[in-house]
Amino acid sequence: MSDDVHAALYERALKLAPAGVNSPVRAWKSVGGTPRYIKRAAGAYMYGEGGERWVDYCMAWGPNILGHAPPAVVDAVAEAAADGLAFGAVTRGEIELAERILVGYPFFDRARLVCTGTEAVLTALRLARAKTGRTRILKFAGCYHGHGDSMLVKAGSGLVTFGIGDSAGVSAATAAETIVAPLDDESAIDAAFAQFGDDIAAAIIEPVPANNGLLVQRPEWHRHLRAACTKHGALLIHDEVITGFRFGYGGAGRLLRDDHGAPAIGVEPDLVTLGKIVGGGMPVAAVIGPAAILDQLAPAGPVYQAGTMAGNPVAVAAGNATLAALGDGTVYAHLAALGAVFDEAVAALVVALPGAPAWVRVGPVVWPWLGEGEPPRTDAAIPSSVRGPFGRAHARLLAEGIHLPPSAFEVGFFSAAHTVAQVRELAAAFAGAIAGGA
Ligand SMILES: Cc1ncc(COP(=O)(O)O)c(C=O)c1O
Repeated sequence: MSDDVHAALYERALKLAPAGVNSPVRAWKSVGGTPRYIKRAAGAYMYGEGGERWVDYCMAWGPNILGHAPPAVVDAVAEAAADGLAFGAVTRGEIELAERILVGYPFFDRARLVCTGTEAVLTALRLARAKTGRTRILKFAGCYHGHGDSMLVKAGSGLVTFGIGDSAGVSAATAAETIVAPLDDESAIDAAFAQFGDDIAAAIIEPVPANNGLLVQRPEWHRHLRAACTKHGALLIHDEVITGFRFGYGGAGRLLRDDHGAPAIGVEPDLVTLGKIVGGGMPVAAVIGPAAILDQLAPAGPVYQAGTMAGNPVAVAAGNATLAALGDGTVYAHLAALGAVFDEAVAALVVALPGAPAWVRVGPVVWPWLGEGEPPRTDAAIPSSVRGPFGRAHARLLAEGIHLPPSAFEVGFFSAAHTVAQVRELAAAFAGAIAGGA
């Protein structure tokens, strides 16, 4: 019965928006079925228009590290909204948010607030080109950096390639300014710099690539990339739209440690892009770095960048309340505890239940690995055969009251609102679905 509600809404939406959605993955093309319409959400739960309740592990694709609608953030937003929705002028809240962000990145001293991760990346790339006087950007296959034209490219064949547009509407000239290399391959980095070194403005990387599976890179690989950028005068951009403030109060480059589920990277980038958590569920993102680079931005410098909604007072209030809640470390301790319990549950299931899947986990970021052998380090190592079982497991978990991101290639997120019992149940339900031939 409740499915009818979703089907009716989807039918209406299909007449109004391309594929009925405002962002592609919401159409559930990857798992099939009708997208579920969400009415409200609180804590770990999302509530559907058909009266359903799900424990949610999508968490709005990452912003909701405190859970859905955390009272402190909602109160801050309500208070800010009552004082005015937008001023297009400077506010105290923007200063406070920049200060809070930079506490997490003590080697940087400037922040520019924007609204989306895409904008943050576009701004970082423009800054890198302006700073170096160079054109090309090195990116890595399987990493996502928003939908700016030059980032919508993928590798063709060969070790290192000129980008080929991955989307219609990206000009060949723009795509060719992006060089794409595979992850997990130092020789590909060397080849890119050997061929294009004097024209590479920046290399951009997700410190923990989390947009095409969870492709944890070796720390040596990260250090190699850092050293190559330094040697050739290119900037290193860590795109931390997902990872920023995720594993601790600051960036993945410095914060990841063994006890968070991954080896320390120990790398300081030249620029960082942030989004998701720094907006606490509202549209805030940022590019941060040293004054020597950021002060090129208008009107301090010649690099133009602006935004009517940049630093919006209501959105900034959500970011401030979220970072304030993360400051004392209790949320990260809770997330670490959830992670440990989840690992234990998964390990026990793998032994007890033939066919139970492994998961990759870094801090509160989890991804079910449905392929054979060791977890992959490159996008190419993920077989497309993971789609079928994931899609079926997704549908079964949905019926059991658990909402996973609707794609075999997307990661899930634990939040402060999740409980030990819930993450154990996730491990058991997913293992049951896969091992039972879901
Ligand atoms: C690493 C990374 N960079 C950039 C973006 C783009 O951010 P937005 O969707 O806010 O434009 C995303 C979005 O998921 C992301 O994961």
